[in-house]
Amino acid sequence: MSIPVDPVDVPARVRDLARDAALAPVWRNNDGGLTFRTDDGRFIKHAPHNAESSLADETVRLEWAGRFLRVPHVLESGQDDTHEWLVTRALPGESAVAPRWVAQPAVAVRAVGEGLRALHEALPVEECPFEWSVPSRIANAAGRGIRIPDALREPPPIDRLVVCHADACCPNTLIGDDGRWSAHVDLGLLGTGDRWGDIAVASMSTEWNYGPGWEDALIEAYGVEPDRTRLSYYRELWNAT
Ligand SMILES: Nc1ncnc2c1ncn2[C@@H]1O[C@H](COP(=O)(O)OP(=O)(O)OP(=O)(O)O)[C@@H](O)[C@H]1O
Ligand SMILES: [Mg+2]
Repeated sequence: MSIPVDPVDVPARVRDLARDAALAPVWRNNDGGLTFRTDDGRFIKHAPHNAESSLADETVRLEWAGRFLRVPHVLESGQDDTHEWLVTRALPGESAVAPRWVAQPAVAVRAVGEGLRALHEALPVEECPFEWSVPSRIANAAGRGIRIPDALREPPPIDRLVVCHADACCPNTLIGDDGRWSAHVDLGLLGTGDRWGDIAVASMSTEWNYGPGWEDALIEAYGVEPDRTRLSYYRELWNAT
């Protein structure tokens, strides 16, 4: 998954959704999904049907989370036999992996860590209708034909139950001109779980985007001492599912 550098074929559906607006490709994910920005202030996600999470799942989660936190506002969504789409209003800020932030990893890593903490503080766990617990993640993986190693079936006791982002990789935090987090995107799996599920992945993902040496800086920005047992468990679970 990355910012596209080569020309991108614009799907016919995306052209229709853009109406008269011009389109710029901004993201290609690992499952063949594409995201475009329009020059009239929208983002269009278009992706093949995906068994792990759907854009319909993301739509209901964005609508729920948007009551408490700055996340994309859904303008329209839909599906056909092969693909789904989700059109949202553009939020201010740029992805934490935009070139300007990759050039300033200390600023970006702090913004992602602080932003993740703010997300966990803002979303009310007792009201959340969605789950991202270890059993639900193992069941989701099983539905995709993935069998989790036995050693991962018994998670560490929950440290703090929060509403997790559930894909807390750096690209899913937006950063404003002031270098602070401004919004969260990509909430298709959002649900309740131990906060270390997110912290483990957010910190691990710094290496993919900024190189080695930033993991603990993210955890410090989040505002906790590294819990090595839970970090390694949730990183292994992420990699296995
Ligand atoms: N409403 C929005 N406002 C601003 N930027 C957005 C918006 N929606 C998406 N983006 C940008 O587009 C990128 C891709 O969107 P998103 O992360 O939702 O796609 P994805 O294909 O599900 O990503 P992933 O590869 O993480 O699965 C984001 O990282 C963000 O930079
Ligand atoms: Mg994303």
